[in-house]
Amino acid sequence: MTTTLTINGTSHTVDLPEDVPLLWVLRDEIGLTGTKFGCGVAACGACTVHIDGEAVRSCQVGLGDVWGEVTTIEGHGTPDAMSAVQEAWVRHQVAQCGYCQSGQIMQAAALLQEISNPTDADIDDAMAGNLCRCGTYPRIRAAIKDAAKVMGGA
Ligand code: FES
Ligand code: FES
Repeated sequence: MTTTLTINGTSHTVDLPEDVPLLWVLRDEIGLTGTKFGCGVAACGACTVHIDGEAVRSCQVGLGDVWGEVTTIEGHGTPDAMSAVQEAWVRHQVAQCGYCQSGQIMQAAALLQEISNPTDADIDDAMAGNLCRCGTYPRIRAAIKDAAKVMGGA
């Protein structure tokens, strides 16, 4: 069946079964490969995108269940127009191999929309489901706090 989604502000119509995970629609149909596959069972956070501003695991949302506008890392910011979160990530040189980082940034961005000046506990709570095999967690925390300052929350 055909489904029309708004992704990063652009309308896309795809002809796929309703139960195809949004992750694969983004990557294989639309060509937005910044969203990563890690586990496929909501256990790693690599596939995190926003639906109407809420951080969701795109490996667990079927195409037919997408309830709003989708934003991926490509829509969150670009190399020429980075978000405050991405700029903080660069300042703190957060990424190591980088595989988990688009999911980390999308999760962090949703956190900062909800809590403008998060405590360490808030950060730990919000980011607990985003795993990083390279162990970048201390830099992620520092970058979130820095981004909060730049965004006026701290
Ligand atoms: S790939 Fe979706 S949470 Fe791991
Ligand atoms: S930077 Fe390598 S998995 Fe997170």
